[in-house]
Amino acid sequence: MPQIFHRAFNTISVVSILGVAVLAGLTGGGLYLLVRSPYTTGVGVTRDQPIPFSHAHHVNELGIDCRYCHTSVEDSSYASVPPTKTCMNCHSQIWVGSEMLAPVRESYRTDTSIEWNRVHRVAEFCYFNHSIHIKKGIGCVSCHGRIDHMHLVRQQNTLLMEWCLDCHRQPEKYVRPRDQIYNMNFKPQDAGYKNQEEMGKALVEKYEIRSKTSCSACHR
Ligand code: HEC
Ligand code: HEC
Ligand code: HEC
Ligand code: HEC
Ligand code: HEC
Repeated sequence: MPQIFHRAFNTISVVSILGVAVLAGLTGGGLYLLVRSPYTTGVGVTRDQPIPFSHAHHVNELGIDCRYCHTSVEDSSYASVPPTKTCMNCHSQIWVGSEMLAPVRESYRTDTSIEWNRVHRVAEFCYFNHSIHIKKGIGCVSCHGRIDHMHLVRQQNTLLMEWCLDCHRQPEKYVRPRDQIYNMNFKPQDAGYKNQEEMGKALVEKYEIRSKTSCSACHR
């Protein structure tokens, strides 16, 4: 009886079985990498905005404080994005002819809010709150990076659980004096400390910071 399967078939099947195993491994690893890639975490990605509002311009060059626009950040879970009226405080007088500002004027005239595209968003099953972080001495820059150098806002950190926990386990590495929350250039030496280590130890005690790692802190 002739051989039904050519001997080479065995080699082929072994190769293909191995291939499937390798592929499965790669997909698993691939999925893992995908979850942590900028594509899914949004790190470094800028979003198109209806108006190319520049933090570098308004914060760094003009020196406007974060709270002028993000008014609720100290008292509420949300930092909030400013209403058109805040822009018009200045832009009803400055750069009134600017083409770029046409949508701002239109929004003001028609009393419809500007639809900014959101950059940061934690998973909806997690609880996040700005005010507690501000009260305990965590600066904007620790989580958002150098906003004052960004023309369009990019997300600096992953906002994944491991990122939150890295700080919750060792807040002394990030805490700063409360009056320096909005200062993007602050260094421990400016407040008379040798380094972050010395400052962190002192402030963790002063502000009674606890290491919050129990699941229910963020998954309520
Ligand atoms: C003149 C007003 C103004 C000032 C001052 C200002 N911002 Fe903003 N900010 C905005 C506007 C408008 C947006 C929404 C458009 C965008 O994302 O760029 C925004 C967006 C942001 C976002 C992204 C929000 C999101 O969608 O996730 C962060 C983070 C932020 N600002 C932080 C800061 C920090 C930190 C400071 C101070 C260093 C600051 N801002 C100062 C107006 C301002
Ligand atoms: C405290 C005053 C002030 C506020 C509030 C303010 N701006 Fe401005 N903005 C300025 C000044 C001054 C300039 C010109 C900066 C320069 O070119 O040096 C400017 C420039 C701009 C430009 C560039 C215009 C061009 O044609 O180059 C845009 C866009 C802009 N602002 C958008 C906004 C938006 C949107 C808001 C509200 C979220 C806002 N601004 C709030 C003062 C302000
Ligand atoms: C401990 C980290 C942390 C600190 C400190 C922090 N933020 Fe945020 N910020 C976040 C996270 C996480 C989000 C996304 C929140 C969400 O999806 O509900 C966010 C969102 C925002 C937004 C989008 C609108 C909103 O309210 O969700 C703005 C604006 C903002 N932050 C501004 C600021 C400013 C200004 C400061 C400093 C006073 C600051 N943040 C300090 C982590 C932080
Ligand atoms: C750079 C440091 C830092 C980062 C990053 C950070 N946190 Fe925090 N968080 C703190 C500190 C400090 C406290 C105050 C702890 C205390 O109450 O003593 C806190 C408190 C909280 C609280 C209040 C807990 C309670 O029971 O009172 C919540 C909720 C929270 N963080 C959620 C988050 C989430 C979600 C993330 C990530 C998206 C995050 N935090 C990232 C430093 C940080
Ligand atoms: C400081 C805040 C914080 C604490 C404390 C925390 N988580 Fe999370 N957790 C998050 C955030 C933010 C996400 C969403 C982003 C992500 O998936 O990493 C998350 C996601 C998850 C997920 C979804 C799976 C995943 O990786 O996407 C599970 C499951 C989870 N957490 C379980 C836990 C358990 C169990 C604990 C206690 C041992 C815990 N978490 C403590 C912030 C926290």
